[in-house]
Amino acid sequence: MTETSQKRVFIRTYGCQMNVYDSERMAESLNKAGYTTASSADEADLVVLNTCHIREKAAEKVYSEVGRMRMLREQSGRDVKIAVTGCVAQAEGAEIQRRAPAVDLVVGPQSYHRLPELVDRVERGERSIVDTDFPTESKFDHLPEERSAATGASAFLTVQEGCDKFCSFCVVPYTRGAEESRPVASVLAEAERLAGQGVREITLLGQNVNAYHGEAPNGGSGTWNLAGLLRALGDIDGLERLRFTTSHPKDMDEDLYQAFADNPKLMPYLHLPVQSGSDPILKAMNRSHTAAEYLAIIERLRSIRPDMAISGDFIVGFPGESDQDFADTLKIITQVNYAQAYSFKYSPRPGTPAANVEFHVPEEVKSKRLEAVQHLLNEQQLAFNLGCVGRTLSILLERSGKEDGQLIGRSPYMQSVHVMAPQHRLGQMVDVEILSAGANSLKGRIIMAQQAA
Ligand code: 5AD
Ligand code: SF4
Repeated sequence: MTETSQKRVFIRTYGCQMNVYDSERMAESLNKAGYTTASSADEADLVVLNTCHIREKAAEKVYSEVGRMRMLREQSGRDVKIAVTGCVAQAEGAEIQRRAPAVDLVVGPQSYHRLPELVDRVERGERSIVDTDFPTESKFDHLPEERSAATGASAFLTVQEGCDKFCSFCVVPYTRGAEESRPVASVLAEAERLAGQGVREITLLGQNVNAYHGEAPNGGSGTWNLAGLLRALGDIDGLERLRFTTSHPKDMDEDLYQAFADNPKLMPYLHLPVQSGSDPILKAMNRSHTAAEYLAIIERLRSIRPDMAISGDFIVGFPGESDQDFADTLKIITQVNYAQAYSFKYSPRPGTPAANVEFHVPEEVKSKRLEAVQHLLNEQQLAFNLGCVGRTLSILLERSGKEDGQLIGRSPYMQSVHVMAPQHRLGQMVDVEILSAGANSLKGRIIMAQQAA
């Protein structure tokens, strides 16, 4: 690399863990193309906005951020290039450059492997490049061979992309495309590298991760499911904990239930969104399961792992949601008793079937319902946390806390746990007696450091 070797890139990431993972991979491939990483947009020659389309007014927020970047470019007098990637790039495509001509490059999630080449074309003066095709080749074929060194004890690893479920409110099937799984051998190779770099916990990512069916390794026939993949990951030395997210109720299979019983490294925590507790609304959402079927899954999980912590997503105010439908959502929350959950007011996403439906729920009704759902979920979260007081939990210490001498780690149930401990314990697993709990975190004291692996 000649001139480009001095260039700096700043990537701003919005949205889910999948985007965090993609941003890291983009940074790596741009590093290889001669870019170093800038710590802020002010210092960068290339700004990448890696966008998310799931939240309300996502596109509008991207346009205002592009406006800020354009101002920055004008004020600095430097030739800063602006790229928009991620799901808004995919959904809006060329519209982005029509509305925001300051954007030099628009790249959808299926085309990240072409990023260095596209940036090079921008560098050479080409303008208005849009690459949002769904290529016929697998995007997993193009992952960088080597990841740069992992920075913490916990890492994400994408094993599956896309979604074929077409929930009527959701843009993901349109922005991330059809379900695709990464071959087993490629996942295992990356996990081994991560373990070699000191990673103790891996969270497997996928929009529909439990639909995983990756090509078998070593020329074996057929595919492996998620439980099979988790079993093989469990054999990797140094890895202590496995998690996966996000799952769909329809794709819970017998092997996966059994994994929670048989795989000692699989943590007793499952993010399993139900969205609503009302059957008519679930049908209108095209969720392809009923409330009773969801409850049966939870019951089965708890019969296998009684301490299973369940997390979920809820949408209130979906078009046509009556008071009775909403009461059914509160009911299912009470029946499941969540350890943690996310809840949202429905908002239409252009191009999705639900956006064209009439009978939208008035905004003030949505607000009231959201408040009621969040109140109940917060109560459950606090109760779950308080239930841990007095127990001894195994904690992976991941980062420094705000207070001097404080470290923060995670429990098996994904809770943040604060302890006083020396810095050198970072990255270690320790046994912690839980002394107190709030809605968002626990406090405890280390009673024994576990054997280093
Ligand atoms: N309105 C509100 N919430 C939504 N989600 C997805 N699409 C919408 C929408 N149109 C929520 C769902 C999903 C989570 C990631 O975001 O609950 O599980
Ligand atoms: Fe969206 Fe439904 Fe697919 Fe989840 S399962 S990504 S909510 S379409």
